Order: sequence, then structure tokens, then C-alpha cells
Amino acid sequence: MKKIKNIGVLTSGGDSPGMNAAVRAVVRTAIYSNLKVFAIKNGYDGIIDDNMIEFDILNVSNILQKGGTILGSARSKGFRTKEGRQQAFDNLKKHDIDALIVIGGDGTFRGATDFSQEHDIPCVGMPATIDNDIYGTDHTIGYDTALNTVIEAVDKIKDTASSHGRLFFVEVMGRDSGELALTSGLACGAEAVLVPEQKDDISKLVKKLVKHHERHRSGIILVAEGYKEGGTYQIADLVRKKLPDFDVRVSILGHMQRGGSPSAHDRLLASRLGSGAVEALLDDQKSIMIGVVNNEVVHVPFKKVTKKNKPLDISLLKLNDILNVYKD
Ligand code: F6P
Repeated sequence: MKKIKNIGVLTSGGDSPGMNAAVRAVVRTAIYSNLKVFAIKNGYDGIIDDNMIEFDILNVSNILQKGGTILGSARSKGFRTKEGRQQAFDNLKKHDIDALIVIGGDGTFRGATDFSQEHDIPCVGMPATIDNDIYGTDHTIGYDTALNTVIEAVDKIKDTASSHGRLFFVEVMGRDSGELALTSGLACGAEAVLVPEQKDDISKLVKKLVKHHERHRSGIILVAEGYKEGGTYQIADLVRKKLPDFDVRVSILGHMQRGGSPSAHDRLLASRLGSGAVEALLDDQKSIMIGVVNNEVVHVPFKKVTKKNKPLDISLLKLNDILNVYKD
């Protein structure tokens, strides 16, 4: 196998706190290992548009603590086409880039899989999304920060909920995954959690809320964005109709969950995985994601990561009921 000399790094998909720490770890480990490293702007679009520059140590100084991504991110349409990927390969060759590190979610890894199947370019992925829904890793970069952001917001909503005796439906991100809703619900003492992985009948929720109302006037329901077509407002309306005595409000936390300075956990995770990604390339690995399982850095083939879904620990829903002393 040809020895790798120059690598490219990009961030792709929805941004997440800790992406900058990940870029820093890649750049610094690459330079430490005598490699040249090119920062690619705006995800895969940056390879197609030839928007990349060589980075040195100082380009990544003072970014470890910053949210977002200094490289910019995109969900590239062009890279989904064969022509786009050919253009991308030609541009990488122009700069003598022999390998890629891609930081993002499963869409990012699907792009890298197609790319490396069509062209001779080793790709290694790092999982970064606030959803924590990537198969093969216990944690994704950004999830811990987002979880803490949600907890801080819900704690504040609880103050006003209890002052007014209101029932709040709080929607958190997670188009396909209830992980953020479930773990934040548990951490905030929510009365109920609604996740896409388990679509209960609304009457079950109503029963739970009636029971809860016997003890408290206020309450919090955590709803994952992907729970129901029509969204959280629709669920709140259904409950309002069934329980007209309840003072129901909706709060959509939205993109604030994706911003902010990364937590200690995300900085450490990003640093370990970023370094691990460069080491994997130097070790002739390709088409793998660097993840963390039981606090050990692991290599998981893209094939597994993109074909399997990370299961949600549904037993935590039961735990939430137990902690609310609720029985069906
Ligand atoms: O995948 C991360 C995520 O934050 C999802 O939870 C959410 O559904 C989606 O991105 C939102 O994407 P956008 O910022 O493109 O609206």
C-alpha cells in the first residue's frame, strides 16, 4: 500500500459541539506524524468546489472550546452524484491528498463509502451529531453538550411551569432518534417522554397525565422531534382537548441545542477520536468509523455503521415510569 503523506479533513451534516476539537486533534496529530493536512471547507461541497487549504498548528489554536465548526458544514447534494464524486476525486489528486477524515453522521459515512468504492482513496470517519444515534459508538461528539443544554433549558421551564401550574410539552431534536429526549427526560425528572422508537397511543399518555395531576399541577413532557407527524403542537392539542382543565404550553428548543461551547466530555472524546482517526490511516485502515465503546477506542466498518440502527434503550422509558411511581 502507498504510504500516506497528505490528508484532508472535513465536517459534514448538522454541526455539533466538539467538531472544532475534533478538527484540532486531527490537524495536530497529523502534523505530529509528519503528514500535511488540508482543511476542506463546507463538507463535501468543498472538495467538489476545490475549497481547501493547508493548515498548520496555529490554524487550529484557540478553537477547542468553540461550538459550531470553523470549517463550515453542509449536506452536499453534488456529492450524492457520480459526477460530483469524480470532480471531488480530481480535486483531491490536484493537491496530492491521499486520504480523508470525515466528521459527521451516518449520511457523511454513506458519502465516504460511495466515494471510496468508486475511487482509490482511504476514508476514516468520526461520529459527530447531537442525536447520539450512530451504530457502533456509545457516544457521538456533541451529544453530551446538547444533553446539558437541554437540561439547563428544561430546568428553567420547570420554574415557570410550577409557578403557573402548567403542563409543558418540550420538543428536543432527534428526527429519527429518541435518545436525546429520553436521556434528558430522565435527567430532568420529566413526567413522560415520547420517542419515535415507541409510538404509544395518546390515551396512554392521557392516563399517565391524569394520574400525575392528582399529585401535581405542573409537569414536563419531553417529546423527540420525530415522534409524530404534525409535531409537538399537534400532540399538545390532542391532550388539551382530552384534558381541558390542564393549562398546556409548548416549547420547541430547536437549534439552540446544536450550539455552545463543548462540554469536557465532548472535548475529550473529540480529541481521542481525532487522534485515533489519523493513527488508523497511518495503520492502513480504511472505510471505518472510529468510535468509543466502554471507554475504549474502536474501529467499526462503515458497512456496519450505515446498515445498522443504534437501538434505543427502551428500558429507560420504564425507569422513567418507575421514578414517577407510575404503573400501567
Ligand atoms: O442530525 C442532527 C439534527 O440536529 C437532527 O436532530 C435534526 O432533525 C436535524 O439535524 C435538523 O437539521 P437542520 O439543521 O438541517 O434543520
